[in-house]
Amino acid sequence: MEIIKTENLTKIYKQGEFKVYALDNASIEIEEGEFIAIVGSSGSGKSTLLNMIGGLDYPTSGEVFVRGKKLSSLKNDDLTIFRRRNIGFVFQSYNLIPVLNIYENIVLPLKLDGMEIEEHYIKSIVEKLKIEDKIESMPNMLSGGQQQRVAIARALSSKPAIVLADEPTGNLDSKSSMEVIILLKALAYEFNQTIAVVTHNEEVAQMADRIIRIEDGKVSSN
Ligand SMILES: Nc1ncnc2c1ncn2[C@@H]1O[C@H](COP(=O)(O)OP(=O)(O)OP(=O)(O)O)[C@@H](O)[C@H]1O
Ligand SMILES: [Mg+2]
Repeated sequence: MEIIKTENLTKIYKQGEFKVYALDNASIEIEEGEFIAIVGSSGSGKSTLLNMIGGLDYPTSGEVFVRGKKLSSLKNDDLTIFRRRNIGFVFQSYNLIPVLNIYENIVLPLKLDGMEIEEHYIKSIVEKLKIEDKIESMPNMLSGGQQQRVAIARALSSKPAIVLADEPTGNLDSKSSMEVIILLKALAYEFNQTIAVVTHNEEVAQMADRIIRIEDGKVSSN
């Protein structure tokens, strides 16, 4: 059964007197446990799609269903809680909290939800992402690629059913990119997670179970 479904999703942004169709009747389905790559040129609507799926922004029209729940039926607080319990995000800009150290950033989603921290699991992720010697550092002491890996660790910390990652390897070299994708795939398999990764990297896309292509806000193949 599909865990994520969008129906005729349309998002129109006004830019001055122009309308931009960031998404234009985009309908997709993602099965539970699938590892999906979303590809398309810059400005094609990939981040917009991910934000809608994650309930971070509202569509102009159309619907998003996550685990059978229609997101538009959830009120603000309920949506926030639903998101926190089900979805881990890796943003295009990493959004680390500058006043928290790396460890605190990684476990923040768990703290916010009052969940127990499984130190052993956190340690294993941090080691696999090769940031174990950074956990007491502050975000501004890390390189872009290191911050990116922290953002991935944070998204995974609560073992969410769904991981939405916007260019999670955009700042990594090709070897590190493949290592991160292999880790995501392994975790997805181990915890039956569903993962959607936006990427420009064809090598990364080829690792996916399926590629969703989007052009000018339209799903061109999936
Ligand atoms: N907040 C906004 N206000 C106005 N226009 C927006 C806004 N966000 C996105 N857009 C427009 O919507 C379109 C899709 O943007 P989006 O960020 O989804 O592209 P993308 O595929 O993620 O691109 P990239 O690969 O460069 O990250 C673009 O034309 C962009 O200019
Ligand atoms: Mg984007």
